[in-house]
Amino acid sequence: MRPAYHYAPAANWLSDPNGLIWHDGEWHMFYQYNPHGEDWGHMSWGHAVSKDLAQWCELPVALAEEDNTMIFSGSAVIDYANSAGFGADAMVAIYTGARTDRPHQFQAIASSTDRGRTFTKFSGNPVLDRKMADFRDPSVFWHEPLRQWIMAVVLSDENRALIYSSPDLKDWRELSEVPRDDAPGHLWECPYMVELPIEGSDETRWLFKVDVLSGAPGSGSLYRVGQFDGARFTPETTWLVADHGDEFYAAIGWQEPRDSMGRPVWVGWMGNHAVQKHLPKQGWRGAMSLPRRMGLRRIDGHLRLVQQIEPACRALFDQSETLQLGEGCHPVSAASMLQLSGQADTWLSLTDDAGRLIDCRIVSGRLTVIRRDPVTPQLDHVSTMDITGGGVVEIWLDHGSIEIVADRGAACLTLQHCLSGEAWALRGDGAARAFYIRISA
Ligand code: FRU
Repeated sequence: MRPAYHYAPAANWLSDPNGLIWHDGEWHMFYQYNPHGEDWGHMSWGHAVSKDLAQWCELPVALAEEDNTMIFSGSAVIDYANSAGFGADAMVAIYTGARTDRPHQFQAIASSTDRGRTFTKFSGNPVLDRKMADFRDPSVFWHEPLRQWIMAVVLSDENRALIYSSPDLKDWRELSEVPRDDAPGHLWECPYMVELPIEGSDETRWLFKVDVLSGAPGSGSLYRVGQFDGARFTPETTWLVADHGDEFYAAIGWQEPRDSMGRPVWVGWMGNHAVQKHLPKQGWRGAMSLPRRMGLRRIDGHLRLVQQIEPACRALFDQSETLQLGEGCHPVSAASMLQLSGQADTWLSLTDDAGRLIDCRIVSGRLTVIRRDPVTPQLDHVSTMDITGGGVVEIWLDHGSIEIVADRGAACLTLQHCLSGEAWALRGDGAARAFYIRISA
């Protein structure tokens, strides 16, 4: 079943979000896409646009594999000052070219002057080449204080992230390396840097995030909070987990526009490279998380990332009722948002006729989610996170996924699932308020 309110392409493979940029009233979401099938390969940039971050419209492929070179992950900017000479307000994509005939990855650019509908690859590509096999995922943004472009990019196999600067998106100079310290796991991908507001203050700090392919806790999406002076990132925290589930990967954000609290919004791929190939074929494979607003909160003196599902997504639901869990089986719409009280110990489980199970338990301030799938046992997984801040626990449930947000955004957990059928049995203990999705014709 297709997700009812998450973005998934009409057909074929989707993975990392790429080139997230707002321009002229449109939120653009490019993403890793295989135009030729449901497996990873022929990587190109798919494209969708939205007016409100809730409803998406799929457009034709924006950047296609060509000349033995796949289009790997990257970012996009609007070059308001025409620094690169592609035209005023040109949209410039900065991506990794990945050769298919030899192990070689380099950074390249392409420009569009028709609102991202068509791109022209720069004839002077590559713009940054270390002649390496694993050098990828450029994340570029404009740094206004020093009036230069900044790129964070990874030497994946060496678990290293470098920062470069450029006046024109073409000529790049290495500035510094992001401190790695005791980062767990191996193979760094998809770095992302962004300045975030601290709740209840006028202060900001920078967040540096990187995804670790294997051996890191949660979804492998690790971050540190610190200072960035235009050249060097100086961490003030240890490595922390952005999402405690198994499938929130390669997240990046739209740097602008921000909401009234100064928060940008980001989105992640609800998948991971270990399980994705085992999922049943349905004509398409992979979906994006809901967009999440990002900010920082001081908790016990430490800065932590807090995420809130983009409020515009609530407009997708228009009906609510309180379920008394514990009264046996309750049919629940497969596309719902449930709210549980986070204070009391409580549990609920979702099952389908094939014996698939998503079991969520909150016991003594710890949330445990057990995912079992007798049809696709590679999905069997247990995720946990501490929820200490009280408040409600939001469970955003859709065909194919479950996103849990607790502690007013300080604790998030994202999982895929294959529960099938129109309505799933919900059993539980306690009370849950359920918001059902509006099904429009
Ligand atoms: C992360 C990743 C990136 C790479 C892309 C290729 O999922 O491996 O490092 O650019 O996917 O599809």
